Amino acid sequence: MYFRALEGVHLRKYTHLFIEIPTEGLAFIGQNASGKTTILEAIHKMAILRGFGRDEEMIQWGSQGYRIRARLPDGIAEVRYARGQGTTLLWEGEVIQPLSRWIGHLPVVVLRPGEIEWIEGPAAFRRRWVDRLLSQISPEYLHALTPYVRALSQRNALLGQDPLPHAQIESWEQLLLTYGPFLQKKRIELTQKLREYLQSFYATLGSEPINLRYKPSVEPEASAWKKAWEKLRNREIALKRTLIGPHSEDFVIELNHKQARGYASEGQKKSLLIALKWAEAAYLSGLQAKGPILLLDDIGEKLDAFRLRAVGQLARLAGQTFLTDVDPLRVEKAFPELPIYEIQNP
Ligand SMILES: Nc1ncnc2c1ncn2[C@@H]1O[C@H](COP(=O)(O)OP(=O)(O)OP(=O)(O)O)[C@@H](O)[C@H]1O
Ligand SMILES: [Mg+2]
Repeated sequence: MYFRALEGVHLRKYTHLFIEIPTEGLAFIGQNASGKTTILEAIHKMAILRGFGRDEEMIQWGSQGYRIRARLPDGIAEVRYARGQGTTLLWEGEVIQPLSRWIGHLPVVVLRPGEIEWIEGPAAFRRRWVDRLLSQISPEYLHALTPYVRALSQRNALLGQDPLPHAQIESWEQLLLTYGPFLQKKRIELTQKLREYLQSFYATLGSEPINLRYKPSVEPEASAWKKAWEKLRNREIALKRTLIGPHSEDFVIELNHKQARGYASEGQKKSLLIALKWAEAAYLSGLQAKGPILLLDDIGEKLDAFRLRAVGQLARLAGQTFLTDVDPLRVEKAFPELPIYEIQNP
């Protein structure tokens, strides 16, 4: 169990929201636009300090900021977001700084309609996913990511200068070499661990062979990076950007030995996505005493009964499950143990 109660103030349509939360979690049932996704978004914000979109959009119209407060088993956490000031986190009334100290306390796995992008969308989507997942697991990953991104943008800016400021470029390259191969190794390691879970969960949904690979742009070793830079120097100068490193890399899912993106059917893509979420949840459960928080937004409409039951099984791995649907009967069938919270329209 993670959440015992959740409170929101000036959060989207809610001037004030208060919900007591049972051990298993809750299924939020209500009409369209009744405020279901907003509650999941509040849980997501509390867990990893980001909502589903831009923070500004979460502020109730006409207000200057919002607050989310959670009663957790060991204390009270509060997130405050104020226009122009950003996010503040308080634990038992004390400000937590830096915010990265909080990440990982409430591990989450999210399944929303837009997540199909994992299979068919651009690489940037998968990179955001891996950064979010690894940041929850490994503080070192999060701490490496920030200086890497900074060094990258500095190097890119210098590549556009004439004459080329060699010494400055080299000093940023040193920083890229400190963090880049480390980020790559962490991603490769994660891929290996997720692959096994993915294969065993997919076998319950489909019979095709499945594989997950990470496609590095360069070997994760400083010497390989240096060699690649020498070779790519002219192209990098012409394009004014760094062509190797984790910022340009991607994951590939293969079904029947072919890239799923472009070849898999709609049903296969959905099964792949569910198996991927299983893999994420199983991996996070293996790292902690309890499973992660599972956030399932509006999936009932997109999945058939068979796949919905598979997601119901996934909920058993979770430490707590929160989902939204317009149809209570569908939820009762696939998630018989999950208590229902009906949202009344005002
Ligand atoms: N910043 C905001 N301030 C006030 N109201 C907002 C804000 N952002 C969104 N809303 C309102 O909140 C409602 C949508 O809430 P939410 O997305 O949680 O609903 P939902 O129950 O998930 O709907 P659906 O079933 O259609 O997905 C809409 O009526 C929208 O106009
Ligand atoms: Mg919704």
